[in-house]
Amino acid sequence: SELPKTQMEFANVANTDWVLLANRNWLDDIKKRWKSPIDILGSKIPVVANLPEKNRTLIALEAWDGVHPWKYELADIEDYQKVIGSDSEWTDYSIEKRAKLLRAAAVQMEKNRADLIGVAVAELGKTIAEVDVEVSEAIDFANYYAQSALDVFNSEGIISMSGGINLVLSPWNFPIAIPIGGVLASLAAGKRVILKPSQNAAACGYLIAKTLWDVGIPKSAFAFLPANEDTLDSFLTDDSVFDAVILTGGTATAKFLLERTPKLKLYAETGGKNATIITALADKEQAIKNVVQSAFGNAGQKCSATSLLILEEEVFNDLHFKNLLKDAAESKVHGNPWVFNTEIGPLAVKINDKLKRVLDNTTDSEWLLKPKLDGDFFLSPGIKWGISYENYEYNNELFGPILCVMKAKNLDHAISLVDNLDYGLTSGIESLDTNEVDYWLNSIKAGNLYANRSTTGAIVQRQPFGGMKASCFGFGMKAGGPNYVLQFLNKKEKDLTS
Ligand code: SER
Repeated sequence: SELPKTQMEFANVANTDWVLLANRNWLDDIKKRWKSPIDILGSKIPVVANLPEKNRTLIALEAWDGVHPWKYELADIEDYQKVIGSDSEWTDYSIEKRAKLLRAAAVQMEKNRADLIGVAVAELGKTIAEVDVEVSEAIDFANYYAQSALDVFNSEGIISMSGGINLVLSPWNFPIAIPIGGVLASLAAGKRVILKPSQNAAACGYLIAKTLWDVGIPKSAFAFLPANEDTLDSFLTDDSVFDAVILTGGTATAKFLLERTPKLKLYAETGGKNATIITALADKEQAIKNVVQSAFGNAGQKCSATSLLILEEEVFNDLHFKNLLKDAAESKVHGNPWVFNTEIGPLAVKINDKLKRVLDNTTDSEWLLKPKLDGDFFLSPGIKWGISYENYEYNNELFGPILCVMKAKNLDHAISLVDNLDYGLTSGIESLDTNEVDYWLNSIKAGNLYANRSTTGAIVQRQPFGGMKASCFGFGMKAGGPNYVLQFLNKKEKDLTS
């Protein structure tokens, strides 16, 4: 079909409508199919690149429902060296050809939606509805970045040269959309690219990688190299190896890389400590719905999650509000992610030390809703009531289903509590007063600001995603926005007017 002519013609794809019986039946098929994941994935999640076969290290990993039935293969330094030093026909492809392949990948991901959902539930315990949204985002990235490349191609005065290689270091909390976003933006810009997924999410990475090879993106252009951190460390000491290192991960990782290799071309999206303010002029019930979604979706394991709730005094002292908030969180269905009604699944990886610290050092009276820990992976939603800026929870990202509530004297005080945070990724306000919202918009220092909406789930093109302060390191235009592909291009400007 004809390609749209500009980014303006881009349209987001729809998420699955779970109200329809046909889709609920389809879901039953996914569950049946994924009862035996080895039949789909094989017994090994392999390293895949334009490399000869060889014996590599295999590891087993524990997960939310036991030990995975498959083993993970690890690439070594030699694999990385060979891939970095090789060539690909990709660099000779026209931008149009590259864009067509990206769009074909979008079509293929839609066809594979069931298995992409299945693999993320199996590997990370992500809930079905949460993965479905993520698959839509991945498809949007493919179509949007294809269009971005074409827009450059069509724009007067810019010639882009292909060549070079990017490295994508992707996280486990968005195991589909984030790796595919970095990989496709790199390919759209004419780069070769290596994906090193989080080891915990390598099966998801493998299935999305397969989608790209299946539509004809050559393995010489896109290599899938899961590896130990040590393997990679040996490369990241040299700032000239990669044209760009696209990291979505911990702030500590980004700091470490930049301290050791200050000139590394790092595009890093790191953590968040995100607050939502509820003023006295909010629609309280709608606000609670949005906050509960922002705090507990994906068990709070989103860099965009609301983990601080700042209430204007009047709201803080409103007992009815307090009870409603508690009920809303408590009524979230927590448990097995294969059950469709489950709204909050397990933690994707074993409970982290920051969460443990908060659970261990808290008295019962501090909890409005006390979280329950069952084993290392199942943590039910918790709400800590009345914390102050001196508490550990105020400025530390916990990455779990814990919401901490603070009191503010007024909107200015609430804004100062947000501005005092080290991070600046997302921020929310709940208020029906446009003056308050405008004042807040102009005051807050964070990358993505949301009024009367959840702080998670940025939508490609409509809400380009990226932070400020400690949430962003190195270069970095917003993902899903107009400059994302552009930043990776080797541009030559031409001026033929004189
Ligand atoms: N883009 C995701 C969100 O907006 C986070 O990575 O929730």
